[in-house]
Amino acid sequence: MSDYEYPASLTHDLNRAELLNHLQNRLDDARFQHCLRVEETARTLAKRFGADVDRAGLAGLFHDYAKQIPVADYKRVIMEDGFDPDLLNYGRGVWHGLVGTWFIQTEVGLTDKLVLQAIERHTTGDPEMTLLDQIIFVADFIEPARTLDAEVAARKAAQTDMRQASYIELKNTLQYLIAEDKIVYPKTLLTYNAFIPKEG
Ligand SMILES: [Fe+2]
Ligand SMILES: [Fe+2]
Repeated sequence: MSDYEYPASLTHDLNRAELLNHLQNRLDDARFQHCLRVEETARTLAKRFGADVDRAGLAGLFHDYAKQIPVADYKRVIMEDGFDPDLLNYGRGVWHGLVGTWFIQTEVGLTDKLVLQAIERHTTGDPEMTLLDQIIFVADFIEPARTLDAEVAARKAAQTDMRQASYIELKNTLQYLIAEDKIVYPKTLLTYNAFIPKEG
């Protein structure tokens, strides 16, 4: 088991035990273990591509912090804390990124903008995803427990090309949402368009 400590400047002075305690208060064990695997995968990708390993690890660890917060709590925060009311047309699959960072700031106290942005963008993507954003987006999709064909293909692409790995994930996500008659958050389609490989 990993026991990475993070710089106090990123954690609001919380040590690893305190960080894990926050996660375990909000997540069942299966989701908590997923977060640990995404942390490890994000650190590996950050080393591979020369991104900030601490920010990648911390964002990976907390990316799903808000995934199991009750829907009623989300609706209240969206209505009362300045979020676009259009978000009410979506669900926790979208909210735990875009709104999840509100809970992470409020309950845990993490404030690093780059860490929070990577977490914010991990559910919908963003046409302007940075390398760090892409690392969290892809780490979530290729952590070791993921075995679907698209996940294996993205893991292979992520050996050399994070944009290609991101694209494989975006394509798979859109195909899944449409096949299941689920609503598509427009930014995910814009992200797909931004990441589609260009000819020539
Ligand atoms: Fe997530
Ligand atoms: Fe996740």
